Amino acid sequence: MKGVDELQRLLKKSKRPRALTGAGVSAESGIPTFRGPGGLWRNFRPQDLATPEAFARDPKLVWEWYSFRREIIAQAKPNAGHTFLALLENEKPDFWLITQNVDGLHQDAGSRRVLELHGNIWRLRCTACPKYVEDLRVPLATLPPKCGACGAVMRPAVVWFGEALPEGTFAKSWELAQTADLFLVIGTSGAVEPAASLAREAKKNGAVVVEINPEASALTGVADLSIKGESGEILSRV
Ligand code: OAD
Repeated sequence: MKGVDELQRLLKKSKRPRALTGAGVSAESGIPTFRGPGGLWRNFRPQDLATPEAFARDPKLVWEWYSFRREIIAQAKPNAGHTFLALLENEKPDFWLITQNVDGLHQDAGSRRVLELHGNIWRLRCTACPKYVEDLRVPLATLPPKCGACGAVMRPAVVWFGEALPEGTFAKSWELAQTADLFLVIGTSGAVEPAASLAREAKKNGAVVVEINPEASALTGVADLSIKGESGEILSRV
């Protein structure tokens, strides 16, 4: 397959490859995406479930939604796409993975140089103080717990609509995009900023951009090479 051969060639000579992943990379693990057919945002309204206002208004509803997603993710295993990216880290000492996913499957596959732009569903953070805790319970208790340090209510440590990305994580991702020589865009619609701008920034600074996605996305026009297909399937051939 032409795209696969070309990607192999690009990877071989790349010294500073990066990958930006989105929900599509976990689709073959059985985790629904947000915007595609069967996507979560086709059936649920983000403003009811994924904003600080929604959590303030109805913490129980938001908590149940995260519990529901954690149950799906807890049953999922990394697929060939996750595994490929974990192996790439061994081959390329300056490879970095930037993900919008909160499912932790990249780490389960063995990736260590991972930047989570949108947080992690297995962590909670306090709404009032800087406390973070890991919480692997499935299902969750019916109401969010109280912070052990200050007693305020805890929330999922994920980024909601209208919230800023973790500052250090985004700054590091931006720098990595600027210094990339190859930038893989895998399984993302490119609909959410500022994550999508990382691909544009990489391209602006001279990186070759390669997209892997069965559908056209908002970033297809940025890509020098667009490989149409499912990422697990494609990357297992690479
Ligand atoms: P989307 O649901 O917007 O896009 C998923 C993309 O994956 C689509 O372009 C699909 O065509 C593609 N896709 C589907 N199956 C695939 C497969 N097997 N292999 C490769 N690609 C596949 O998900 P994201 O782009 O990740 O934000 O969405 C970005 C953010 O929007 C998420 O991080 C989340 C959401 O609201 C927050 O939670 C803050």
